[in-house]
Amino acid sequence: MTKPKVLVTRRWPRAVERRMEEAFDLDLNASDRPLTEAELRDAMGRYDAILPTVTDRLPATIFAGSSPRTRILANYGVGFAHIDTEAAKSCGIAVTNTPDVLSECTADIAMTLMLMVARRASEGERELREGRWTGWRPTHLIGTKVSGATLGIIGFGRIGQAMAQRAHFGFGMTILVQNRSPVPAEMLARFGAVQVPTVEDLLPRCDFVSLHCPGGKTNRHLINSRRLDLMRPGAFLINTARGEVVDEHALAQALWFGTIGGAGLDVFEREPRIPDELLGADNLVLLPHLGSATRETREAMGFRVLENLTDFFGGRAPRDRVA
Ligand code: DGY
Repeated sequence: MTKPKVLVTRRWPRAVERRMEEAFDLDLNASDRPLTEAELRDAMGRYDAILPTVTDRLPATIFAGSSPRTRILANYGVGFAHIDTEAAKSCGIAVTNTPDVLSECTADIAMTLMLMVARRASEGERELREGRWTGWRPTHLIGTKVSGATLGIIGFGRIGQAMAQRAHFGFGMTILVQNRSPVPAEMLARFGAVQVPTVEDLLPRCDFVSLHCPGGKTNRHLINSRRLDLMRPGAFLINTARGEVVDEHALAQALWFGTIGGAGLDVFEREPRIPDELLGADNLVLLPHLGSATRETREAMGFRVLENLTDFFGGRAPRDRVA
């Protein structure tokens, strides 16, 4: 029996690539360069499955007017706003993602950002490496206490819950939640959390706000200048969700004028480009989209894609089908 022809658009952990090679007629992208839209469109005519990541844009134009060979887009990652799932569906192409396996590491990075920005860790490291440290003094780099503060979580899926777990049990934080749908009372009770109806209700009540909602059109600029103005002076915004959720210009203004205390960002609207107005802000901690970047998680994500593909080509429903 001929094996399905599969394209992996970026380099993956070697352990996963090896297993993939056994199961499929696999083409790897040895250069690890993101594919262009034209290359992706061409690939749709030549592969049974394409395994994209967040760096591959698959808008409706990629699917338009084509009768593709591709039957499944098995995304390596939980977020899939870079794929027009409606357009994929109308061409009969299934889409899967990789939930669960990256929740803990993404929440760990959100905690990292929260601690780093509140305790001014990047500023301190820059000062030290640049030879500007003059020694201990009572007024040096005074930060904000995280333990016992109030954390607002926007989006209470698996990653939001993992964040609540860490913040509540590890740091004794009070948790407020804003979520599209009602969160079951038992789940809120687990973290002593309270759900509030709107983002507007949440922002003025928090010392820290962490974003864990999906990206895409619906949540584009969910955090805009009006909502930044609702945050407490001195409060911190953390984004490990998707860059487009925050209006970066409005955030830069809030940071420069000090209307909020600071921010920690792992994701950006035009990755890998970062606006200069953000790069220059001292009260901002920046990471290059590292949420899921541990060996354990990146391998688990790959094996989850393998499971989805094996089920799909074996005639079974893939567990992570999103379209
Ligand atoms: C995801 O999974 O959506 C991340 O952003 C990449 O790991």
